Amino acid sequence: MGSSVEQNILVTGGAGFIGTHTVVQLLKEGFKVSIIDNLDNSVIEAVDRVRELVGPDLSKKLEFNLGDLRNKGDIEKLFAKQRFDAVIHFAGLKAVGESVGNPRRYFDNNLVGTINLYETMAKYNCKKMVFSSSATVYGQPEKIPCMEDFELKAMNPYGRTKLFLEEIARDIQKAEPEWRIVLLRYFNPVGAHESGRIGEDPKGIPNNLMPYIQQVAVGRQPELNVYGHDYPTKDGSAVRDYIHVMDLADGHIAALKKLFADPEIGCIAYNLGTGRGTSVLEMVAAFEKASGKKIPIKLCGRRSGDATAVYASTERAEKELGWKAKYGVEEMCRDQWNWANNNPWGYQKKL
Ligand code: NAD
Ligand code: WQD
Repeated sequence: MGSSVEQNILVTGGAGFIGTHTVVQLLKEGFKVSIIDNLDNSVIEAVDRVRELVGPDLSKKLEFNLGDLRNKGDIEKLFAKQRFDAVIHFAGLKAVGESVGNPRRYFDNNLVGTINLYETMAKYNCKKMVFSSSATVYGQPEKIPCMEDFELKAMNPYGRTKLFLEEIARDIQKAEPEWRIVLLRYFNPVGAHESGRIGEDPKGIPNNLMPYIQQVAVGRQPELNVYGHDYPTKDGSAVRDYIHVMDLADGHIAALKKLFADPEIGCIAYNLGTGRGTSVLEMVAAFEKASGKKIPIKLCGRRSGDATAVYASTERAEKELGWKAKYGVEEMCRDQWNWANNNPWGYQKKL
């Protein structure tokens, strides 16, 4: 940071996919980091690997706390013993299909957890927050690229938690203008740290495209179902804006620096994407090239609720955060494969 005082950041959900990658970058940038995670969708091994990646000296600046945001006492304990300069809030449940079947679990975890966090932050006068939002708040966009000032709508309970939490953030900041809140709308995070030591490790059968392709490549799934081949796109399959998780991690550093530097920031949303659309079939081809593995596919009907094509306008983040994605699909697939090839069963040692 170049600042003489070391800034102390609370990272909720820091043991998860995007959290671990961001924590590595935060430590390398000179921040002190405390993670709070209930390990609902992650394992402590991931945090151990973060320590291994940053080395013993930087590791001393990382603290892990097992805790659940739904228990206010778990958050309170952390704030009572140290001062945080800002919070990066990743913790949340994110499986769209599960949220349709069990919306109460999503509202309880994502909404109650976040409200508890705001309450405790306010009590300890820590009023700077970077929040994990999602391109899901654009619903099925009528126009692309998606711009931050588009009308927002949600298609499922998970999406509604993100939409509500954005509205809650705007209301809190409006009522108490000293809050500075950055809402980062991630597009489709993929890839892994270039070391191949940390990456995405979903429990059960993956819902998302890249983790599924990865499991086909290592023989854990026989073939990939391609959902939809009659979309009005270049090859009939749906188009998304895939973004390398290390670019996302750097986007959080840029957002944090902006929060500290700009007292007038208020509550503002930024898209984190590459601004480029890639189809499912193009992604399969890129992964085959990076891995040298054949990915057998089965063309299937469309998945309900899916949009035809979604990609970001990256103008605002470029102009105001000075951040731009560095990596393309080739590097995303290279690093995803490196992670998969070195850890075919994720963080599990063996089956
Ligand atoms: P992840 O599941 O890997 O990480 C989330 C972490 O939060 C997990 O380690 C989990 O154990 C923890 N957690 C969940 N509920 C908690 C609670 N109540 N208390 C404490 N810890 C809790 O997910 P991720 O992919 O790293 O996503 C991080 C954030 O980004 C989420 O809020 C997600 O909704 C959002 N997001 C993700 C994507 C994506 O495709 N990965 C896209 C857009 C937005
Ligand atoms: C991408 C494309 C699928 C799996 C989701 C959430 C969104 C955000 C990111 C959190 C689609 C196709 C997928 C498969 C396939 N998450 N596909 N076969 O749906 O763009 O976004 O993750 O905020 O909220 O909805 O991502 O990876 O699931 O799908 O053909 O086995 O791949 O139909 O066209 P999506 P995805």
